[in-house]
This record gives sequence, C-alpha cells and structure tokens, in this order.
Amino acid sequence: MKKILSLAAIVLSLSACSGQQAQEAAAPVNVKSLAGDVAITDTLPAEAKATYPSRGTALERDFVHMPPLIPHKDSYKLTTKKNGCLTCHSTEKAARMKATPVHESHLSADGKFDDKYYFCVQCHVAQADNKEALVGNTHTN
Ligand code: HEC
Ligand code: HEC
Repeated sequence: MKKILSLAAIVLSLSACSGQQAQEAAAPVNVKSLAGDVAITDTLPAEAKATYPSRGTALERDFVHMPPLIPHKDSYKLTTKKNGCLTCHSTEKAARMKATPVHESHLSADGKFDDKYYFCVQCHVAQADNKEALVGNTHTN
C-alpha cells in the first residue's frame, strides 16, 4: 500500500513538473550576449586581397644565393604525396611549363631531386602586394 502511494506521489509530482515546463517554454526567450546590448550594425567589407606578380616574370634578387622570391601564388599543394611546385619546376618538366628548373643545389649526386629540398616554401616565399606592412623590417643588404 505504502509503495503504491509513493508511486502515485512520484507520478503526480512528475506531471506537475512537466506542466510547469510547458508554461516556461511558452515565455519569450531572453538571451543576453556576453558583449552586452550591442546592436549588430553593418557587415564589414572583405579584406583587400593580395595580388601577385604575373607568372612568367622572375623578380630581381637582392643578394647572391638568395632563394628567389616566388613571383606567383604559393598555394599549390605540398603534401607527402604531391608536390605542386615540382609539377612545373622539376628538371624534367620545367622546360615544358616555361618555368626555371630547381637549382642544381636541390639535386643529389645522381641528378635526382633531393628530398631535403621538398618543402619549397621553407625557403622560397611569395612576393605579394599586401595592403599593409605585417611586421617591421630593418634588413639591408
Ligand atoms: C603552373 C606552373 C607553376 C607552378 C605549379 C609553380 N610555379 Fe613557380 N614559376 C612558374 C613560372 C612560369 C615562373 C616564372 C619563370 C621563372 O622565373 O621560373 C615561376 C617562378 C618561380 C620562382 C622564381 C624563379 C627565379 O629564378 O626567380 C620561384 C622561386 C618559384 N617559381 C617557386 C615555386 C614554388 C615554391 C612553387 C610551389 C609553391 C611553384 N613555384 C609552383 C610556374 C610555376
Ligand atoms: C633549404 C632552402 C630551399 C628549399 C627547401 C628549396 N629551395 Fe629553391 N633555392 C634555394 C636557394 C638558396 C636558391 C638560390 C641558389 C643560388 O642562386 O645559389 C634556390 C633557387 C631556386 C630556383 C632558381 C634556380 C635558378 O637556376 O635560378 C628555383 C626555380 C627553385 N629554387 C625552386 C625550388 C622549388 C620548386 C623547391 C621545392 C621543390 C625549392 N626550390 C626548395 C633554397 C631552397
């Protein structure tokens, strides 16, 4: 008997709870942003895109043995399976792609590409016309 009574009490309290929840859900949701009551105004314009020199024009070097700057975009795929730079700059393909072949220092004694030079953008950086100076530079040659 006692068991039945307490069971009934649980059922009653549960239904009471759910009734309350239904009422709350109907109330308007009032979420406040952590930034406070700030209205979202205009959308920001997109940042200016960097422009690259047109492919085909090598850039002047500033000092002897300097890794030449990349005069085109540098977003070619560089993964363990695919080297997007070598598709144009490998000794075998360069002439057909009208690109300079990798420097002889990038080849091992047998004339094959030396994988120590695989990650091209470790040394070569693209020359892009960014709209603002990113870091200060006092380099002189
Ligand atoms: C679609 C073909 C193509 C691809 C892919 C390509 N390049 Fe080039 N690259 C060129 C051409 C064309 C030039 C301009 C001619 C030249 O100087 O070799 C050039 C120029 C360069 C130069 C300047 C060479 C010099 O003597 O001043 C560097 C350095 C260079 N690329 C590095 C790279 C790197 C690093 C990658 C990969 C992120 C890459 N390239 C991918 C075609 C390509
Ligand atoms: C460890 C640094 C390093 C890495 C990695 C590297 N290079 Fe170079 N690269 C150089 C240097 C330094 C030179 C200039 C050599 C000189 O003039 O003595 C050069 C020269 C070149 C040249 C011009 C060659 C010429 O005869 O004028 C091309 C093209 C080039 N690299 C492409 C590449 C490509 C493509 C890759 C990746 C597959 C690559 N490099 C990886 C340092 C590097």
